[in-house]
Amino acid sequence: MSNYHIKHLEEYYQVYRKSIREPENFWEEIAEEHFLWRKKWTNVLSWDFSKPEVKWFEGAKLNITENCIDRHLATRGDKTAIIFEPNNPTDKAEYISYKQLYERVNQFANVLKSKGVTKGDRVCIYVPMIPELAIATLACARIGAIHSVVFAGFSSKALSTRINDCDCKMVITADGSYRGNKTIDLKGVVDEALESCPGVKNVLVAKRINSKISMKVGRDFWLQPLLDSASKEGNAEVMDAEDPLFILYTSGSTGKPKGMVHSSAGYMVYTAYTFKNVFQYKENDVYWCTADIGWITGHSYIIYGPLANGATTVLFEGVPSYPNFGRFWEIVDKHKINQFYTAPTAIRALAKQGTELVEKYNLSSLKVLGSVGEPINEEAWHWYNENVGKKKSPIVDTWWQTETGGIMITPIPYVTPTKPTYATLPFIGIQPALMNENGDELKGNQVEGRLCIKFPWPSMARTIWGSHQRYKETYFSAFDNMYFTGDGALRDEVGYYRITGRVDDVIIVSGHNLGTAPIEDAINEHPAVAESAIVGFPHDIKGSALYGYITLKDAGESRNHKNLSKEINQLIADRIGPIAKLDKIQFTEGLPKTRSGKIMRRILRKIAHNEMDNLGDISTLLNPDVVQSIIDNKL
Ligand code: WTA
Repeated sequence: MSNYHIKHLEEYYQVYRKSIREPENFWEEIAEEHFLWRKKWTNVLSWDFSKPEVKWFEGAKLNITENCIDRHLATRGDKTAIIFEPNNPTDKAEYISYKQLYERVNQFANVLKSKGVTKGDRVCIYVPMIPELAIATLACARIGAIHSVVFAGFSSKALSTRINDCDCKMVITADGSYRGNKTIDLKGVVDEALESCPGVKNVLVAKRINSKISMKVGRDFWLQPLLDSASKEGNAEVMDAEDPLFILYTSGSTGKPKGMVHSSAGYMVYTAYTFKNVFQYKENDVYWCTADIGWITGHSYIIYGPLANGATTVLFEGVPSYPNFGRFWEIVDKHKINQFYTAPTAIRALAKQGTELVEKYNLSSLKVLGSVGEPINEEAWHWYNENVGKKKSPIVDTWWQTETGGIMITPIPYVTPTKPTYATLPFIGIQPALMNENGDELKGNQVEGRLCIKFPWPSMARTIWGSHQRYKETYFSAFDNMYFTGDGALRDEVGYYRITGRVDDVIIVSGHNLGTAPIEDAINEHPAVAESAIVGFPHDIKGSALYGYITLKDAGESRNHKNLSKEINQLIADRIGPIAKLDKIQFTEGLPKTRSGKIMRRILRKIAHNEMDNLGDISTLLNPDVVQSIIDNKL
């Protein structure tokens, strides 16, 4: 018997040790006993971080949708797979059983095939949080097409960059989306993006808001009539273990977004296994993750992990503030949610509203609370624990990344004693290391360093689409023979980990990773701008917000700064998306630079953090005088 479900701390330590001592035997047992394979592997693991190359379950054949859907039909055909909770609370929720999911995914897969999509093709999915989003994703996986889901809040420019980077031949979208009391013209964004995407042959459009949109003859098709005439049956494509399942873009500190490529078998095994344990999911539980499927959290823990376990997973279209800040709690009460997984930024926004709205609803169904996306601060942790969990539901502070595919450091609820702001212990199979800047591993407890992972785990990304070299440089070059996460962390006296934040130029705003370079590029496109530098600064709700220091070409620029700020933020919204807008813009006469001309972001960061007396030695700067003037005019 494999240790698929861990129930005690002793068991955790025992299984953890086994997963480290005999990783291949360990994962082989898990894979063998809990998944459906068309053919078993010939080799459990081969790896070489210097290339880097990692292969899990090589030689195996499978389809992840047979694991997420088909195999449940006999025992869970009528069980609800997906609960769709619409934006508007007075609209009816939709309950999609495993049997219906099977039929709808097959119909969608058959439509994709009829439009010429085949195994290995890339399909871009730019769809709001409606059932079609999950179904389109699964339909791609069913026929072996590689899905690239793009968060439906990204701008047309961001969308076209992602479509072109991996040569998508099709885009799936909707006429529009609801967001609270607003609607968003998604098809308009797609049309604009496609002006610069010659490779896209077809666009499938789901009807959601019934808006008037233009349809390009021969290219664009309404989805529903095609689905209606498609068969509800269909065979899943047989995939190799290492065939790519999807690409998901994440921001880097430099350059264009990185298309992280995830595999089929390893990803499936690890997301399913983590889901089962990190949420202690039991057969009749109702699980809700509030993330958008456009992010990795939605891929792994709304779709694949839960469905691979035959779970009931909630898909929520709306926002926490509509029609009021009680919406999350209303949904917990309405669907009797047992596991609730959200982000610190949402918790902070809700905490700000006081406790009245939380107390109005019955939250007694809750058993596990999750947090993901950024470090959770102490205050938010306690508010969540006291007011939502009523001190009875353990908080799992789960640390992981788009690149890791699944949860890496986390408590297991009712197993690992929690500690506020600590992600606690490595999950089964995960071997973290803390490194100092000289490349030495910091052994023992009570140390702080750069967080790396020493040994491969099944769901790690295998490459960056189109640039294996960049994959190697970004993740495997900082430290020999290690995966470098980009995060800093400390290990306390009992070996618990606390993530201290990014050590690179990625800033996490409301749980969204934003690279500074692409934002600076957008700002610098403004004709009046000479140069810019972006840093993060602490923000009550967003965790971090963006502070932009901008110098103008003409210091006596006649237009007023308010208008310029507006124009600059509009440019950022157009190029990247509204999430990347700057909260503060300071126009400066110069930026502090080293003698070699490099902008000293460290100094700007300190100023934005109000740590002016701690700037260090600035005398070696090319232009030390500029620092005082920046401080004097600080916002
Ligand atoms: C941060 C999200 C502290 C971290 C799944 C990481 C966290 C980045 C936590 C990845 C956490 C995520 N505590 N920091 N529990 N979870 N992070 O790719 O900096 O959107 O590197 O994946 O978010 O963000 P991504």
